[in-house]
Amino acid sequence: MTGVSKIVVIGAGNIGGTLAQRLAEADLAREVVLIDIVEGLPQGKALDIQESAPILGFSTKVSGSTHLEALAGADIVVETAGLARKPGMSRSDLLEKNAAIIRGHALAVRQHAPHAVVVVVTNPVDVMTFHFRDVCGFPASRVFGESGTLDTARFRTFVAMELGVAARDVTGFVLGTHGDTMVPLLSLTNVSGVPLTQLVPSARLAEIVERTKKGGGEIVELLKMGSAFYAPSASQAELVAAIVRDERRLLPVTAHLDGEFGLKGVCVGVPVVLGREGVVKVVEVPLAPVERAAFDASVAAVRADLAILAQLARPA
Ligand code: LAC
Repeated sequence: MTGVSKIVVIGAGNIGGTLAQRLAEADLAREVVLIDIVEGLPQGKALDIQESAPILGFSTKVSGSTHLEALAGADIVVETAGLARKPGMSRSDLLEKNAAIIRGHALAVRQHAPHAVVVVVTNPVDVMTFHFRDVCGFPASRVFGESGTLDTARFRTFVAMELGVAARDVTGFVLGTHGDTMVPLLSLTNVSGVPLTQLVPSARLAEIVERTKKGGGEIVELLKMGSAFYAPSASQAELVAAIVRDERRLLPVTAHLDGEFGLKGVCVGVPVVLGREGVVKVVEVPLAPVERAAFDASVAAVRADLAILAQLARPA
């Protein structure tokens, strides 16, 4: 089944390449296009993926380009371009360089793919999602960021490892920013309906929360070059599938808030309903007082980065 005709992935690095592979293998679109500035990289990865089609049986056409004109007519765009962290760096350390990259791509998407739904992955993702939407001027529903599904996947993995149960039976939400102040919601985490707080002692839970917050950094330290890409691309593919198939999944994404949770003018991780037109609705889940305080601290961290972004945008 072909749900949309064209998905474009900007950036053919580890995340972009792996995501293109996942999207092609899931046969979600007639065409998947990889774009990168490095001549040969998007074409080479695309051809390599395409050559797996006879074995895997998918019909998606995969191609690569170094030109942003290849965005033309895209139904969905996933922005993965930008620098990744090195050991010792925070996601915010990438802000200035990645903001410049995002600006050019947002203008190109506005010109060549004015009806696309855009998923932003570039870090610091909450700020880059805000920036992308600000520059392209799309409705807030059509530009959102991926991080909550990834952070939640890490949290669910660690809980499953602790309990020795199937990871898919663990559900929950990690909200707030994609950074050290993210907020795993213990009150809304359960294992096949059993509240997590009844299964794991609170001291151990605190350790799992801490590991989740530093989950991306743990991989960066291990790899020593580049950051994670298997779990991130799986999270992004989950979001793209929800859009393509209009699944109305209830998932955490970095969404633009306009009064929800009492906040405005900021993009941050919250639960949303996701469908063909993007963010159909922000879902204001109840937060325990301690979670609300942590969420507010997380929002403050994003606002601090937004202030740096505003400073950069101002002409010298
Ligand atoms: C991570 C990066 C991709 O969390 O932000 O792995």
